Amino acid sequence: MSDVNTLEQYTIKQKFTLHYEYPVLFTREVFDQNNNILIDLIDNRNESPKVMAVIDQGLCDSNPLLPQQIADYLELHEINVLPEIIVPGGEACKNDEQLIDSIYQAVETHAIDRHSYILVLGGGAVVDAIGFAAATAHRGIRLIRIPTTVLGQNDAGVGVKNAVNYHHRKNYIGTFAPPFAVINDFDLLTTLSDRDKRSGISEAIKVALIKDNVFFTELYQSRHELAKFEDAPMQNMIIKGAKWHLNHIATSGDPFELGSARPLDFGHWSAHKLEELSNNELRHGEAVAIGIAIDSIYSMLAGHLSTDELQNILALLKDVGFELNHSILSKLDISKALAEFKEHLGGDLCITLLSNIGTGFEVNVIDEVLMVQAIEQLKSL
Ligand SMILES: NC(=O)c1ccc[n+]([C@@H]2O[C@H](COP(=O)([O-])OP(=O)(O)OC[C@H]3O[C@@H](n4cnc5c(N)ncnc54)[C@H](O)[C@@H]3O)[C@@H](O)[C@H]2O)c1
Ligand SMILES: [Zn+2]
Repeated sequence: MSDVNTLEQYTIKQKFTLHYEYPVLFTREVFDQNNNILIDLIDNRNESPKVMAVIDQGLCDSNPLLPQQIADYLELHEINVLPEIIVPGGEACKNDEQLIDSIYQAVETHAIDRHSYILVLGGGAVVDAIGFAAATAHRGIRLIRIPTTVLGQNDAGVGVKNAVNYHHRKNYIGTFAPPFAVINDFDLLTTLSDRDKRSGISEAIKVALIKDNVFFTELYQSRHELAKFEDAPMQNMIIKGAKWHLNHIATSGDPFELGSARPLDFGHWSAHKLEELSNNELRHGEAVAIGIAIDSIYSMLAGHLSTDELQNILALLKDVGFELNHSILSKLDISKALAEFKEHLGGDLCITLLSNIGTGFEVNVIDEVLMVQAIEQLKSL
């Protein structure tokens, strides 16, 4: 009879490596008949591939001709175009438990298989939710993301994560699933509200602060132009923001976040909670701007960051137009927010702080008395 000791010799150490590669392309007028960027991604060598577009309602409302433009473009290139699905925009779609089911139903109805394509167009929230549906239906359908917000193009739409909320807990259900491709079309940003144009700038400021002081200086020097959403600085901010997010995923050694360190979540432990406390009235990017301010002030109070550098960070955030002293701060329960963030990370609490502009580092303990002071200081700005 076999026992534990004799069975041990049959232990198999399973090991393999996967290589991931996907393009993040920048363009204008992606659905212009002469623009081949999208069609060149779709494999139509054999039979006509199926493509189903899922479009953010907010995007559609401001571009009513868009669904027809997409259909015309795909038909011109002999693609089997399925009826588009229009989904609510913003955090509502990540809170809607029926939404994922409706995508699974469409996948079933149209016999969409793992070689078909889902084309998602929308803000970070829609890209997150549809990305989750695409990653789980048939264990993964090819997903081409066309993010249509600033935050979508420089952060949410280019990486490997997707998620929906659960019982209003942010990003509670999701997967790590690299997309098939990403197309950032700058023209699609023109219909965004000023609020949504501004919101995404905070994620670029975040990566600059933890990774690249030269990028921070560029953002700082162009802050008044960014406040007016001028083309050249906005494009520079989006391209470099996306580049740094992608660079981190490719080179950190932990693309699927198995460890506890999460530098790209700089400023996010409070931001996630502030978004929830505001019932999603605060945009993700707006909450991140406040979160960056809190953790920068804390970095200074803890003796890591110089006061001059802190002043530049706060000036950049304020001059771009972020409201940092938001009334919702009075509701922030620091212990609870940190505990939930720890649970979200798994393992140890791991908070990124700044030693300099351009250099983040991780700590496992937060001095809550000092954190209260940091928040009080922010409120007095
Ligand atoms: N997966 C990730 O790695 C990741 C990273 C960062 C943020 N996120 C998520 O992204 C979400 C925030 O995304 P967001 O800032 O893009 O906002 P959003 O998706 O909430 O969109 C904001 C609003 O803009 C509308 N909209 C979108 N595109 C438009 C356009 N071109 N013209 C007019 N209106 C348009 C939407 O309908 C919505 O009302 C959050 O849920 C956040 O958790 C995910
Ligand atoms: Zn974020």
